[in-house]
Amino acid sequence: MNKTLKLTIAAVATCISALAFAADNTKSMRGVDVSTPDQAAETKAYVGKRPGSSGDKVARTFSTQPPVIPHSIENFDEINLENNQCMDCHAAANFKKKNAPKVGDSHFITREGKKLEEASSARYNCVQCHVPQVDAPPLVENEFKGDAPKKATKKN
Ligand code: HEC
Ligand code: HEC
Repeated sequence: MNKTLKLTIAAVATCISALAFAADNTKSMRGVDVSTPDQAAETKAYVGKRPGSSGDKVARTFSTQPPVIPHSIENFDEINLENNQCMDCHAAANFKKKNAPKVGDSHFITREGKKLEEASSARYNCVQCHVPQVDAPPLVENEFKGDAPKKATKKN
């Protein structure tokens, strides 16, 4: 074996052992070994209780944000073709007698900008945009400052 080849082999061997050493000391950011399956996050309880019993609404943080649901939706039936319990309280025809807020103004406008009497069917699946609130602190620190609409921030 010539000298250069020997040196090369020695150098490669050093690199490999250095890498192996580094690998042994690597800690993943999620705190468990990278090869172990992800642990399911802790289940958090919804903050809100029965509709009508929630106190302050949750502040909106930007103008086109669907407000989070301040009450629990746990015992509601799933939204399907025949049933939409959300509409029992929030529809234009029902909200007054149920003392609930009416669905947002944007829900009465079609994609083409036409005004409707009742909420657009494109908004039928409420929980695709509105989610109940849980008390979950941000996962990482951040300085996000929203662009909250005045109408919604006044009350909070
Ligand atoms: C029994 C009546 C009732 C039902 C059913 C109901 N809500 Fe509500 N909802 C209310 C009332 C009353 C409020 C006002 C806050 C409170 O007192 O809980 C409210 C508040 C809200 C708000 C907050 C609006 C804002 O301006 O911040 C959202 C969003 C909402 N509901 C969505 C839903 C969705 C989605 C469903 C179906 C999964 C639903 N609600 C079912 C009565 C109801
Ligand atoms: C495509 C997303 C989307 C869907 C689907 C949707 N919403 Fe909304 N909702 C919004 C956004 C965005 C706002 C805030 C802007 C506004 O007021 O229209 C809002 C506002 C609201 C508000 C507050 C209104 C106010 O005057 O402050 C209520 C209550 C509400 N939605 C209920 C519902 C219910 C009930 C359904 C199902 C029948 C539903 N939404 C479906 C996006 C959605």
